[in-house]
Amino acid sequence: MRKISLLFLVLYLLFSCFFGMESTQRKIPLLDTTLAQAGEVTKQAHCTPTPSDELGPFYTPNAPERTSVGKGHVLTGTVRSSSDCSPIERARIEFWLAGPDGKYDDDHRATIFSAKLGVYTFESNFPPRYSSRPSHIHIKVTAQGYKTLITQYYPASGQTNGEFNLILIFEERIQ
Ligand SMILES: [Fe+2]
Repeated sequence: MRKISLLFLVLYLLFSCFFGMESTQRKIPLLDTTLAQAGEVTKQAHCTPTPSDELGPFYTPNAPERTSVGKGHVLTGTVRSSSDCSPIERARIEFWLAGPDGKYDDDHRATIFSAKLGVYTFESNFPPRYSSRPSHIHIKVTAQGYKTLITQYYPASGQTNGEFNLILIFEERIQ
């Protein structure tokens, strides 16, 4: 009886060892492939910088900090680094646009700071066309270590919300 138990134990150990190794051997190539793919993703991570646009004649610094200057359009997005797409928190984002009467004034300027994971939300009236210009919202973004971005967002007619990511160019700090 004892010999039979010992035989079963030996057989069990041989069985486990053989299939255990095979199972490990099967897993390693999969793991290598997964790691290789992850490496490729990391190497390829690059976000195209947001194109710059005209500052225009109506920019005024030090706009009050607020997330809304009206109703009718909600703009959301994420501030990111062009070098590795990482989110930038606490980026200073300034907005200015024409009010419903088609004129720029202090009631339609705002400063907000990107939140956790670089996200922001800005609510305003739908920017009216003026002169020959299409509807647009001016945006200026500053963040330490990045080139200041001055750009414009152009919503389509009747659009009540939009997404506009703000991709900043990383600058090496000059000591
Ligand atoms: Fe403008």
